[in-house]
Amino acid sequence: MSPSALAAIPTYSIATIPADGIGPEVVEAGVEVLKALSQKLATFRITFENFDWSSETYKKTGKYIPDGGLEQLKKHDAILFGAVGAPDVPDHISLWGLRLAICQPFQQYANVRPTRIFRGTQSPLRNANIGDLDWVIVRENSEGEYAGQGGRSHRGKAWEVATETSIFSRHGVERIIRFAFETAQKRPRKMLTVVTKSNAQRNGMVMWDEVAHEVAQDFPDVKVDKMLVDAMTVRMVMKPGSLDTIVATNLHADILSDLAAALAGSIGIAPTSNLDPSRENPSMFEPIHGSAFDITGMGISNPVATFWSAAEMLEWIGEADAARQLIEAVEKVCERGVVTADLGGKANTKDVTAAVCEEIEKIALKKI
Ligand SMILES: NC(=O)c1ccc[n+]([C@@H]2O[C@H](COP(=O)([O-])OP(=O)(O)OC[C@H]3O[C@@H](n4cnc5c(N)ncnc54)[C@H](O)[C@@H]3O)[C@@H](O)[C@H]2O)c1
Repeated sequence: MSPSALAAIPTYSIATIPADGIGPEVVEAGVEVLKALSQKLATFRITFENFDWSSETYKKTGKYIPDGGLEQLKKHDAILFGAVGAPDVPDHISLWGLRLAICQPFQQYANVRPTRIFRGTQSPLRNANIGDLDWVIVRENSEGEYAGQGGRSHRGKAWEVATETSIFSRHGVERIIRFAFETAQKRPRKMLTVVTKSNAQRNGMVMWDEVAHEVAQDFPDVKVDKMLVDAMTVRMVMKPGSLDTIVATNLHADILSDLAAALAGSIGIAPTSNLDPSRENPSMFEPIHGSAFDITGMGISNPVATFWSAAEMLEWIGEADAARQLIEAVEKVCERGVVTADLGGKANTKDVTAAVCEEIEKIALKKI
């Protein structure tokens, strides 16, 4: 490639927030494969700025995000996040202090969680093979059960009361349902399942159903059906091939997507995108899994969820071909049997990362 062609290629600036537990090792692995990919393809450049915001920072300074931190993040094209949570900090402090403190002000209202069975891996379901389980779960990510509304009175007394109020705004529901229909429309099967609990929750969830019905009128080519969340767990296990795109509330989709990840083989594979579809703020990409205290520091965490998150990030910023090449490299490595213990293998994090970089090195470049 000529020097002038090189100068013309886009450069993306990525903020990394490795945070806690296995977060730093999987983000380090993610950065390594992204650098290898950008070097090999030479169709884009990528730079990284690391933010040392973690439970350690919180314990030292009393804050996860320093003053002005969100403004610093805003300068970047996207955020690659590890995981937050430490054994000696209550989970609601760490989650609200870092992850939700980015998602909510940045209006990353669409949480997108694709799941499928990779070549070379196995579902724990007896009859599910590659292609039989291929879903995208769209999770409402800004309100619902995680709106943060509620309170506690008479703390510690026998008559203590605590409330946790779910918030469903028509604006919030409409935008996520519309986003889900658009996602379903772009996929070959054009099917959307709306998950609800409107039999028991007769206000917010009934409005959720009504809005879904209204938005459906704008998408006549999408086949839509409705499932109660409890029945949905059964359908995911018994008839995985009957599902494609799924939309659910913040809490319902949080739970269903962990089940989805396990049914596809391991939580160590599953990615998440926290998207601001307006693109006013950077979107944030992270593995579904948490800090995994039980394996922290052992070097055996599966980096594939972070690689898939990195691929989703590439697609979002406009590098769809690079995203496809990265996933292909990861699947080839799984096929070669270079997988971590959660997938039944013996490889460690560094082995899998090195194998993915090797596959990237083998990509045959198109002549330009
Ligand atoms: N987005 C986030 O930052 C996020 C998400 C979930 C949990 N958390 C936090 O993480 C901490 C631990 O939570 P948890 O134990 O419920 O969930 P977890 O996802 O951290 O771990 C659940 C199980 O899955 C395994 N696991 C997870 N990721 C793996 C990987 N990449 N490779 C191999 N095995 C993997 C762990 O070893 C563990 O046995 C808590 O503080 C929780 O609040 C954070």
